[in-house]
Amino acid sequence: MSTAEPPDTRDLRRLRKAAGSCEGCDLYRDATQTVFGAGRKQAKVMLVGEQPGDREDRAGEPFVGPAGRLLDRALTEAGFEREAVYLTNAVKHFKFTERGKRRIHRKPSRTEALACRPWLIAELHAIRPRLLVLLGATAAQSLLGPSFRLTRHRGEPAPVPPELSEVVTIVSATVHPSAVLRAPDRGEAYAGFVGDLRAAHGIGR
Ligand code: URA
Repeated sequence: MSTAEPPDTRDLRRLRKAAGSCEGCDLYRDATQTVFGAGRKQAKVMLVGEQPGDREDRAGEPFVGPAGRLLDRALTEAGFEREAVYLTNAVKHFKFTERGKRRIHRKPSRTEALACRPWLIAELHAIRPRLLVLLGATAAQSLLGPSFRLTRHRGEPAPVPPELSEVVTIVSATVHPSAVLRAPDRGEAYAGFVGDLRAAHGIGR
Protein backbone atom coordinates (compact mmCIF):
# COMPACT_ATOMS: atom_id res chain seq x y z
CA MET A 1 0.00 0.00 0.00
CA SER A 2 1.40 3.43 -0.88
CA THR A 3 1.45 6.29 1.60
CA ALA A 4 2.31 9.99 1.69
CA GLU A 5 2.26 10.79 5.41
CA PRO A 6 4.05 9.14 8.31
CA PRO A 7 2.02 7.14 10.83
CA ASP A 8 1.57 8.77 14.22
CA THR A 9 4.32 6.92 16.05
CA ARG A 10 7.78 7.40 17.58
CA ASP A 11 8.75 3.87 16.62
CA LEU A 12 11.62 4.23 14.13
CA ARG A 13 11.09 0.78 12.67
CA ARG A 14 7.45 1.53 11.87
CA LEU A 15 8.39 4.90 10.41
CA ARG A 16 11.11 3.35 8.25
CA LYS A 17 8.74 0.68 6.95
CA ALA A 18 6.02 3.22 6.13
CA ALA A 19 8.52 5.57 4.43
CA GLY A 20 9.46 2.66 2.16
CA SER A 21 6.13 3.00 0.37
CA CYS A 22 5.88 6.80 0.37
CA GLU A 23 4.54 8.31 -2.86
CA GLY A 24 4.17 11.82 -1.49
CA CYS A 25 6.02 13.28 -4.51
CA ASP A 26 7.22 11.84 -7.82
CA LEU A 27 10.78 11.06 -6.77
CA TYR A 28 9.91 7.49 -5.73
CA ARG A 29 9.30 6.64 -9.40
CA ASP A 30 12.95 6.69 -10.54
CA ALA A 31 14.80 6.09 -7.27
CA THR A 32 15.79 2.55 -6.30
CA GLN A 33 14.37 2.86 -2.80
CA THR A 34 13.56 5.20 0.08
CA VAL A 35 16.69 5.99 2.08
CA PHE A 36 15.54 6.47 5.66
CA GLY A 37 17.76 7.71 8.49
CA ALA A 38 20.36 5.56 10.25
CA GLY A 39 21.56 5.52 13.82
CA ARG A 40 20.40 4.79 17.32
CA LYS A 41 17.15 6.03 18.81
CA GLN A 42 19.18 7.20 21.84
CA ALA A 43 21.37 9.48 19.67
CA LYS A 44 21.90 12.91 21.20
CA VAL A 45 22.92 14.45 17.90
CA MET A 46 21.01 14.38 14.62
CA LEU A 47 22.50 15.49 11.31
CA VAL A 48 20.35 16.22 8.27
CA GLY A 49 21.71 16.22 4.72
CA GLU A 50 19.98 17.03 1.44
CA GLN A 51 19.05 13.74 -0.22
CA PRO A 52 20.66 10.35 -0.85
CA GLY A 53 23.24 10.26 -3.64
CA ASP A 54 23.90 7.52 -6.18
CA ARG A 55 25.65 5.19 -3.68
CA GLU A 56 23.09 5.78 -0.95
CA ASP A 57 20.24 5.09 -3.38
CA ARG A 58 21.73 1.69 -4.21
CA ALA A 59 22.75 0.83 -0.63
CA GLY A 60 19.60 2.12 1.09
CA GLU A 61 21.73 3.89 3.75
CA PRO A 62 22.48 7.60 4.12
CA PHE A 63 26.01 8.99 3.74
CA VAL A 64 27.83 5.87 2.59
CA GLY A 65 29.49 7.52 -0.45
CA PRO A 66 32.28 10.13 -0.80
CA ALA A 67 30.38 12.89 1.04
CA GLY A 68 29.72 10.44 3.88
CA ARG A 69 33.40 9.55 4.19
CA LEU A 70 34.32 13.22 4.41
CA LEU A 71 31.56 13.76 6.96
CA ASP A 72 32.78 10.84 9.11
CA ARG A 73 36.30 12.26 9.20
CA ALA A 74 35.07 15.78 9.98
CA LEU A 75 32.78 14.53 12.77
CA THR A 76 35.65 12.69 14.44
CA GLU A 77 37.94 15.73 14.15
CA ALA A 78 35.21 17.95 15.60
CA GLY A 79 34.93 15.69 18.66
CA PHE A 80 31.72 13.77 17.94
CA GLU A 81 31.37 10.12 18.76
CA ARG A 82 30.19 8.65 15.48
CA GLU A 83 27.90 6.11 17.23
CA ALA A 84 26.12 8.93 19.09
CA VAL A 85 24.95 10.51 15.83
CA TYR A 86 21.75 9.82 13.89
CA LEU A 87 22.07 10.65 10.18
CA THR A 88 19.24 11.40 7.80
CA ASN A 89 18.23 13.57 4.85
CA ALA A 90 15.64 16.27 4.19
CA VAL A 91 14.50 14.34 1.09
CA LYS A 92 14.53 10.56 1.17
CA HIS A 93 14.65 9.67 -2.51
CA PHE A 94 17.54 10.26 -4.94
CA LYS A 95 16.76 12.85 -7.64
CA PHE A 96 18.91 12.60 -10.73
CA THR A 97 19.20 12.83 -14.51
CA GLU A 98 20.78 10.07 -16.53
CA ARG A 99 23.79 10.97 -18.64
CA GLY A 100 24.93 7.83 -20.40
CA LYS A 101 25.59 5.35 -17.62
CA ARG A 102 25.96 8.03 -14.98
CA ARG A 103 23.23 9.33 -12.72
CA ILE A 104 23.80 13.01 -12.06
CA HIS A 105 22.44 14.49 -8.83
CA ARG A 106 19.72 17.15 -9.15
CA LYS A 107 18.77 19.45 -6.32
CA PRO A 108 15.32 18.69 -4.89
CA SER A 109 12.70 21.39 -5.36
CA ARG A 110 11.09 23.21 -2.46
CA THR A 111 7.87 21.26 -3.19
CA GLU A 112 9.73 17.94 -2.91
CA ALA A 113 11.41 19.05 0.31
CA LEU A 114 8.03 20.09 1.71
CA ALA A 115 6.45 16.77 0.71
CA CYS A 116 9.20 14.93 2.60
CA ARG A 117 9.25 17.25 5.61
CA PRO A 118 6.67 15.29 7.67
CA TRP A 119 9.05 12.29 7.64
CA LEU A 120 11.89 14.43 8.93
CA ILE A 121 9.65 15.88 11.63
CA ALA A 122 8.58 12.34 12.57
CA GLU A 123 12.26 11.28 12.87
CA LEU A 124 12.94 14.31 15.06
CA HIS A 125 10.06 13.34 17.36
CA ALA A 126 11.37 9.77 17.51
CA ILE A 127 14.98 10.72 18.30
CA ARG A 128 14.50 13.97 20.25
CA PRO A 129 18.15 15.00 19.79
CA ARG A 130 19.79 17.58 22.01
CA LEU A 131 21.69 18.98 19.00
CA LEU A 132 20.39 19.19 15.44
CA VAL A 133 22.92 20.05 12.71
CA LEU A 134 21.57 20.95 9.27
CA LEU A 135 23.96 20.28 6.40
CA GLY A 136 23.39 22.60 3.44
CA ALA A 137 20.64 24.93 2.32
CA THR A 138 18.02 22.28 1.50
CA ALA A 139 18.06 20.86 5.05
CA ALA A 140 18.37 24.29 6.65
CA GLN A 141 15.51 25.81 4.66
CA SER A 142 13.29 22.76 5.11
CA LEU A 143 13.28 23.33 8.88
CA LEU A 144 14.19 27.01 9.30
CA GLY A 145 12.22 28.42 6.37
CA PRO A 146 13.10 29.62 2.86
CA SER A 147 14.50 32.95 4.02
CA PHE A 148 17.25 31.31 6.13
CA ARG A 149 20.66 32.26 4.71
CA LEU A 150 23.33 29.66 5.31
CA THR A 151 26.18 31.91 4.15
CA ARG A 152 25.26 34.45 6.82
CA HIS A 153 24.41 32.14 9.71
CA ARG A 154 26.52 29.01 9.30
CA GLY A 155 28.13 27.76 12.50
CA GLU A 156 25.88 29.87 14.74
CA PRO A 157 23.07 28.65 16.99
CA ALA A 158 19.87 29.09 14.92
CA PRO A 159 16.41 29.78 16.36
CA VAL A 160 14.62 26.55 17.24
CA PRO A 161 11.43 26.36 15.14
CA PRO A 162 8.40 26.57 17.50
CA GLU A 163 7.05 23.20 16.31
CA LEU A 164 10.35 21.60 17.45
CA SER A 165 10.74 23.38 20.75
CA GLU A 166 9.72 20.26 22.72
CA VAL A 167 11.95 18.03 20.70
CA VAL A 168 15.30 19.74 20.05
CA THR A 169 17.44 21.98 22.28
CA ILE A 170 20.03 23.45 19.91
CA VAL A 171 19.96 23.91 16.13
CA SER A 172 22.94 24.81 13.99
CA ALA A 173 23.53 24.86 10.23
CA THR A 174 26.64 24.47 8.13
CA VAL A 175 27.58 23.68 4.55
CA HIS A 176 26.94 20.30 2.96
CA PRO A 177 29.96 17.95 2.81
CA SER A 178 29.49 17.69 -1.00
CA ALA A 179 30.10 21.45 -1.20
CA VAL A 180 33.42 20.86 0.58
CA LEU A 181 34.31 18.18 -2.00
CA ARG A 182 33.49 20.60 -4.84
CA ALA A 183 35.19 23.67 -3.35
CA PRO A 184 38.11 25.17 -5.34
CA ASP A 185 40.17 25.30 -2.14
CA ARG A 186 39.14 22.05 -0.52
CA GLY A 187 41.52 22.39 2.42
CA GLU A 188 40.09 25.74 3.42
CA ALA A 189 36.49 24.58 2.92
CA TYR A 190 37.16 21.48 5.02
CA ALA A 191 38.72 23.52 7.83
CA GLY A 192 35.65 25.80 7.85
CA PHE A 193 33.33 22.79 7.92
CA VAL A 194 35.17 21.18 10.84
CA GLY A 195 35.18 24.58 12.60
CA ASP A 196 31.38 24.82 12.30
CA LEU A 197 30.93 21.25 13.56
CA ARG A 198 33.30 21.90 16.45
CA ALA A 199 31.33 25.02 17.40
CA ALA A 200 28.08 23.02 17.29
CA HIS A 201 29.68 20.28 19.40
CA GLY A 202 30.78 22.90 21.93
CA ILE A 203 27.33 24.43 22.36
CA GLY A 204 25.58 21.06 22.19
CA ARG A 205 27.40 19.64 25.22
N1 URA B 1 24.42 13.66 0.36
C1 URA B 1 23.39 13.79 1.23
O1 URA B 1 22.87 14.88 1.43
N2 URA B 1 22.96 12.74 1.84
C2 URA B 1 23.45 11.54 1.67
O2 URA B 1 22.97 10.61 2.28
C3 URA B 1 24.55 11.41 0.78
C4 URA B 1 25.01 12.47 0.14
